[in-house]
Amino acid sequence: MTGTFPNISISTERLVLRPLDEDDVPALAEMMNDEQVGAWTDVPQPYGEEQAHGWVTQYAPTEREAGRGITFAVTEFLTQRLVGIVQLTKTNWHVRSTELSYIIAPWARGEGYASEATLATAQWLFTDQKFERIELRTAADNTASQQVAQKIGCISEGVLRGACIAHVRADDGTWSDVRTDFIVWSLLPEDLDGAGGQLADTDGFTTYSDWN
Ligand SMILES: CC(C)(COP(=O)(O)OP(=O)(O)OC[C@H]1O[C@@H](n2cnc3c(N)ncnc32)[C@H](O)[C@@H]1OP(=O)(O)O)[C@@H](O)C(=O)NCCC(=O)NCCS
Repeated sequence: MTGTFPNISISTERLVLRPLDEDDVPALAEMMNDEQVGAWTDVPQPYGEEQAHGWVTQYAPTEREAGRGITFAVTEFLTQRLVGIVQLTKTNWHVRSTELSYIIAPWARGEGYASEATLATAQWLFTDQKFERIELRTAADNTASQQVAQKIGCISEGVLRGACIAHVRADDGTWSDVRTDFIVWSLLPEDLDGAGGQLADTDGFTTYSDWN
């Protein structure tokens, strides 16, 4: 059983989550060139506009059309600036489960944007898409990411030992792989009845064509 996520936008109090657009390429390339992104994600460093263009025009649409997931551009409602991305991958339509990850631009961190965007995505998945499970995997030392998972009400399920390849930068600027553990977190619909529910001030879901 395979499905496809619709091209929609999700509105919250401060944010609009929508499909990536070619106009996002410069801001996307800029936000990916970052120590934390290099350390905790598989985004190659340095990251240029060519790679960002490939993500927007090829990778993201292909992933969505194949039913594997969807990438949302996270933008500020007031300024329309791109502040981050929320990505769904490894979607299992039979189990109605998907893996969620997030990146917020360095300049926009600490504002609660990752939590707000993730909760809105979770609400949409549970209510509109009838999903039953969202999984997050955070590298063992990625405190910021774990704080986000905890804040939105995810439950820590355990450790996947040695399952994560993080990256460290040497003094000469080169990156190398370092093996570490993954902490696995999950969010189920009932988890949003707790602390997460109060944060999830979702204004609505619209199809992208309506919103555009
Ligand atoms: C992880 C990341 C997305 C967090 O984005 P953010 O928008 O700053 O997160 P939020 O503002 O929603 O923070 C949520 C909670 O985490 C806490 N937090 C955020 N960054 C933190 C840090 N570096 N250290 C400790 N706590 C942190 C916040 O204080 C907040 O808790 P509070 O409201 O109780 O204070 C961002 O740091 C990032 O893009 N990192 C690089 C990419 C990455 O690691 N992605 C995750 C891969 S699994």
